[in-house]
Amino acid sequence: MSNLKARMTIDPAYRLAETDPRIYGSFIEHLGRAVYGGIYDPGHPAADEDGFRQDVIDLVKELNVPIVRYPGGNFVSGYRWEDGVGPVEQRPVQLDLAWRSLEPNRVGLNEFARWAKKANSQVMMAVNLGTRGIEEAKQIVEYCNHPGGSYWSDLRRKHGIEQPHGIRVWCLGNEMDGPWQIGRKTADEYGRLAQEAAKVMKWVDPSIELVACGSSGSKIATFPDWERIVLEHAYDEVDYLSLHTYYGNRDGDLANFLASSLDMDAFIRTVVATCDFVRAKKRSNKTIYLSFDEWNVWFHSNEADKQVEPWQVGPPLLEDVYTMEDALVVGCMLITLLKHADRVRIACLAQLVNVIAPIMTENGGPSWRQTIFYPFAHASNLARGVVLHAPVESPKYDSKDFTDVPYLEAVPVWNEAAGELVLLAVNRAEEPLALDVDLRGFPNARSKEHIVLTHPNMKAVNTKDRPDEVVPQKRSIGAVDAGRLSVELPALSWNVLRVRV
Ligand code: AHR
Repeated sequence: MSNLKARMTIDPAYRLAETDPRIYGSFIEHLGRAVYGGIYDPGHPAADEDGFRQDVIDLVKELNVPIVRYPGGNFVSGYRWEDGVGPVEQRPVQLDLAWRSLEPNRVGLNEFARWAKKANSQVMMAVNLGTRGIEEAKQIVEYCNHPGGSYWSDLRRKHGIEQPHGIRVWCLGNEMDGPWQIGRKTADEYGRLAQEAAKVMKWVDPSIELVACGSSGSKIATFPDWERIVLEHAYDEVDYLSLHTYYGNRDGDLANFLASSLDMDAFIRTVVATCDFVRAKKRSNKTIYLSFDEWNVWFHSNEADKQVEPWQVGPPLLEDVYTMEDALVVGCMLITLLKHADRVRIACLAQLVNVIAPIMTENGGPSWRQTIFYPFAHASNLARGVVLHAPVESPKYDSKDFTDVPYLEAVPVWNEAAGELVLLAVNRAEEPLALDVDLRGFPNARSKEHIVLTHPNMKAVNTKDRPDEVVPQKRSIGAVDAGRLSVELPALSWNVLRVRV
């Protein structure tokens, strides 16, 4: 019997929001081995006719990723998209200053759009507002989305792509507040540029949706004034504001690391408040939604990256090998995003393949699932539908940076069409947690399945040689009795409770 006890009440009347499927987006940047050696490896035995690895496409499909941000990231702030279209043999090799790598341009936007289609995903395209501006942003929208009869749309057709790509979501640059960014700007400079670029891009294609850059993180000194100033300029022209965050267990403090998602929660609340402050100031009826288009754990590879030789094609950069504890943090971050589904419409796990990624490959060799693959795959495949407000009563703890951290992090998602209620839950405690769920309002509730991801060693990882060291298991689940489900969540575990309703 567990000493730790938590309770939840789940009622279908308390609807928070319908999840936007794009909350399960991801990200492929021209960085490290994400493209070259990741999705694209023409010499690989599993490569298809376009040079894309079929095994990687299959794993992406398993993750069920509806939208993929591309081509950066920091990379986009120095990128000339025209270098990546047209005959491959005529494409220039460029220095990528963001990652001190060589960009051979063998994969560009047309190839990526083709890959995304094969992976059942949409492209979320970023434009370069670092070294470039309104003119180039206008041209790329015309190339991608205009049917034909103009210079840039006819160039696309000349390149063999008769039908427009119809790319709906566009990012107005990337992390423009960061000193590491090529062409960094002040909030006023960026806000004005984003406003004008947005205006012109929508004149080319009024159906597109635009994401303005929020701060690169909540710890940068200009946060949240950056958000306020950018929106004071561009509120009417843009649809989303971006958020980025990464966490790491740098000092080996598990309890503190597991509480990281409380910081993410506070970050989201502050950005929502700032958006709504500008809305009030402008007397506007429009709501700005959030695009949390970079989130993950990122710290394992920081030191190794300093040793990587510059100016290579596809160098091994940002290759974090994820532990069981990282999977718990990713699970808590997913739950946090879902708890804000009323404002977070788009989110991108950064990234997708090899670079701080759920999917790893060896050049010419096998591919495998990292620990963080599983919480993402479970949520993306099973937690679709309506997020319900569900008060949690849980014992709490304090850690170095956080107070009142609940041992139980959980969110219910009701898939009405499938007749299923899914409860995603993380037990942050180093002992089992007895959870009692009151399923009022679901008179026909019947328990179906309890999936658990845990491991006796929180530092356990999946590798090429041991790809199944950390894998989910099914546990027996008791019946729903008098409208209540009682279940034990193992110590330090990610849980998916599936209930037929
Ligand atoms: O995802 C890796 C990098 O992190 C991205 O290029 C950048 O936007 C962020 O700083």
